[in-house]
Amino acid sequence: MTTDRTRRVEDLLAVPSFAPPADFREKALVNDESLYQQAAADRLGFWAEQARTLHWDQPFTRVLDDSNPPFYRWFDDGRLNASYNCLDRHVAAGLGDRVAYYWHGEEGEERAVTYGGLLADVQRFANALKDLGVRKGDVVGIYLPMVPEVVVAMLACARIGAVHNVVFGGYAPEAVRDRMQVSGAKVLVTSDGARRKGRVSTVKDNLDGVLGEVESLEKVVVVRVTGSTVAMRPDRDVWFHEVCAAADPVCPAEPVEAEHPLFILYSSGSTGKPKGILHTTGGYLTGVSYTHRLVFDLHPETDVYWCTADVGWITGHSYVVYGPLANGTTSVLFEGAPDYPHKGIWWELVERYRVTTFYTAPTAIRACMRWGAELPARHDLSSLRLLGSVGEPINPKAWTWYHVVIGGERCPIVDTWWQTETGAIMIAPLPGVVSTKPGSATRPLPGISADLVPGDEGDDSGLLVLTEPWPSMLRTLYGDDDRYVRTYFSRGARTYLAGDAARRDEDGYYWVLGRVDDVINVSGHRLSTAEVESALVSHPEVAEAAVVARPDELTGQAIVAFVTLRGGAEPSDELQTDLRDHVAARIGKLARPAQVVWADELPKTRSGKIVRRLLRDVAEGRELGDVTTLGDAGVLDRLRSQLANTG
Ligand code: PRX
Repeated sequence: MTTDRTRRVEDLLAVPSFAPPADFREKALVNDESLYQQAAADRLGFWAEQARTLHWDQPFTRVLDDSNPPFYRWFDDGRLNASYNCLDRHVAAGLGDRVAYYWHGEEGEERAVTYGGLLADVQRFANALKDLGVRKGDVVGIYLPMVPEVVVAMLACARIGAVHNVVFGGYAPEAVRDRMQVSGAKVLVTSDGARRKGRVSTVKDNLDGVLGEVESLEKVVVVRVTGSTVAMRPDRDVWFHEVCAAADPVCPAEPVEAEHPLFILYSSGSTGKPKGILHTTGGYLTGVSYTHRLVFDLHPETDVYWCTADVGWITGHSYVVYGPLANGTTSVLFEGAPDYPHKGIWWELVERYRVTTFYTAPTAIRACMRWGAELPARHDLSSLRLLGSVGEPINPKAWTWYHVVIGGERCPIVDTWWQTETGAIMIAPLPGVVSTKPGSATRPLPGISADLVPGDEGDDSGLLVLTEPWPSMLRTLYGDDDRYVRTYFSRGARTYLAGDAARRDEDGYYWVLGRVDDVINVSGHRLSTAEVESALVSHPEVAEAAVVARPDELTGQAIVAFVTLRGGAEPSDELQTDLRDHVAARIGKLARPAQVVWADELPKTRSGKIVRRLLRDVAEGRELGDVTTLGDAGVLDRLRSQLANTG
């Protein structure tokens, strides 16, 4: 049967487009063009209508204030609370017993967290935060694995108007320190340890070495996850379960202004300094609940939805926490990796929880392809009705495999293009309306205006821009308004530059090609070349480093580091491993270079700027581009022979 499926994938690769299946279309929330037409006719009216699906303690009367572009304000005379919208209003509607999350632990533990249960936990922790001195507007760091407490911590912040700053659990302690320092965090919520593929790592103890450097930090709250022993500092550290037990169980949600900050999420940009992307309450919640409902064609009474992203990324914020909860969804929350305890665990869980809607990244789909179609074939995947993809362009082969092997050819695939900055999905099909083409995110959603502007490439591609403000857009880079304007609005205050190149076909479909800046996308995770370079040069033996990406069949892109050593240091396999580990320790394993190439020198312009474009050509074994600006053209030949030696 699996060989039949493999053959079927090959056959379908020739099919250019897939219409929504008739029975899907029939039951879909939207199955005609009317929403597109409505949004085109009255964009602001359309967004106001979406915003009004939320609960407002004080209704807004103004939709958009665009008097000071690119600093846009949405619904700004209204007041609401995100945690109220995600919890209380569902409980008030009698849905307290509905499961919000089927949590599944690495070792098979299960916890069904209901809306009522989550509300009780959130209220207690919100009061505990207040007891620890947290006030509206204070920043609270969150560095936790995928356990229900991560959601509790986020919503507890939202409940009292504190601003959360979640750091992905895979980042190294130094990255946590940096993010706490620049955001001025007052409290950090973390865990004793974390489990990953059967191994237990310490978390709190690793942080202790660096947290002393965060002056603003007053308290550290420790969630007991692994039961490891931890050294608690009596003046600073408290246990999550103890402060919750001591807290008052009732904490009414505090209505905040629509433009009150909800969270900061650091993301990589083209310099080494991560960008603190700031999202606010009313617009963000409007964007994520609208897109989650319509892109995933949500039927909350019957759907079981699973987004595999970690909560530490924007996909986790928008499509594991805020979007699904705002819409009263039942989700799966999985602690583990896709290959532990075995490579079929995802499909086992789809069968176990009767998952209807599954949202993951192309890199994961490619890994599953490599593991073979026989693993999903062992499970009953007939509950699935819709599949999603996010994080990087999906190659047609992976798309078609997903469609045939996972979706059984009956599930539309929504390829969703968006960014940390956009807060919510921008370009994606409405699955009951838009025919899909493998590899294209298709059309901008109703309410979203995209376009292409000419770039430097001189071919038929352009730079992807969004030409009208939208409610869930970032409001600024935390503490750096200038950088916000410079980075995103260099072509005018109404033209948001996404940093991606794209093509548009005759049907108006967008085909996103990838980043045009020095951002690398490894397995759907954003990294900046400068960040990796500065980690490399912090190693005592390294004089200079230049980092580029090369295409990789599994991870989309892979990091290649060209490294010049200090006088006296000798290249060796041990040093190569040492450098890769050094980067992993400074940033996180996701940043570990796939390849280190020893270079006697790096190609530079006469004014001393490293020419990365040529390094990319070298890394990919391509014909070299224009070399006339180089100070010394011979340097590239030498690099090529060094690359051949390090293979
Ligand atoms: O290059 C695009 C790529 O991921 C970038 C955004 O990364 P991040 O802010 O980490 O958010 C990832 C999850 C939303 C984009 O600039 N990207 C994201 N989704 C797609 C994509 N590229 C092509 N197709 C997609 N569906």
